[in-house]
Amino acid sequence: MSLLRRLPPILRALLAQALAFAVLVALARLGLRLTPLVWVLLQAVLAVFLSRWLDLGPRWVLMQAALPFLVRALWGAPIPAWIYLLLFLGLVLVFGGGLLSRVPLYHASGDAWEKLEALLPDQPGLRFVDLGCGFGGPVAHLAKARPDGVFVGVEASPFTWLVAWLRCLPHRNVHIRMGSLWRTDLAGFDVAYAFLSPVPMPALWAKVRREMKPGSRFISHSFEVPGETPHRVIPVKGREGARLLVWDL
Ligand SMILES: C[S@@+](CC[C@H](N)C(=O)[O-])C[C@H]1O[C@@H](n2cnc3c(N)ncnc32)[C@H](O)[C@@H]1O
Repeated sequence: MSLLRRLPPILRALLAQALAFAVLVALARLGLRLTPLVWVLLQAVLAVFLSRWLDLGPRWVLMQAALPFLVRALWGAPIPAWIYLLLFLGLVLVFGGGLLSRVPLYHASGDAWEKLEALLPDQPGLRFVDLGCGFGGPVAHLAKARPDGVFVGVEASPFTWLVAWLRCLPHRNVHIRMGSLWRTDLAGFDVAYAFLSPVPMPALWAKVRREMKPGSRFISHSFEVPGETPHRVIPVKGREGARLLVWDL
């Protein structure tokens, strides 16, 4: 059960809808006859119930309730197939980079940015990397606060990268690179920061230990490294349990 709850939210949401649909199919096979609208309502109620059971947050639960009605409304509507293709491409452009490493797109709060700032070493010319920089909020904030530092954001999703790149254009000390964090050499950085998911943490920790030099710092937003106690844990505003886990190497 706890394994299911550790799945990325999108998979839990799909699972809840699939289980709810399976219950509906079973009821129909048992001979239950309802109007289409009541079937849709039943799907929504079951999906909400299962989503709560799978620990999805309020926003997800709301989307889960709306989805069956949306599908019903679009069913048979004269929408050209290319619209769906366009939507699919849009999703890949925004979320595609995180699909393989099972990392969704969500953002650290302004409070987390400020606490990250306090964790930067005083040395001028410090080099910081955000591994999976999303829309670039943390690097843009830090670059403004520390004009003496160099801030690099690495992002694998094309559209997300573009937003971060445009956002950071005004900051001369920020470099937004498109590519995989796994192909980013960490040896040249004094601080590496990542806000990913539980899935890549063991491999990321191995990379940090292999590449980062002694005296540097690794910060994970919210996600633990199994079996590795952080040197500091700093609560930050955001989703429940949001915190910065800090390791001094
Ligand atoms: C949770 S967001 C974090 C955004 C930002 N770092 C923050 O703290 O607000 C994670 C980002 O990592 C990106 N990502 C996931 N896997 C990646 C990979 N292998 N290489 C580069 N970026 C990746 C995702 O596309 C997503 O934008």
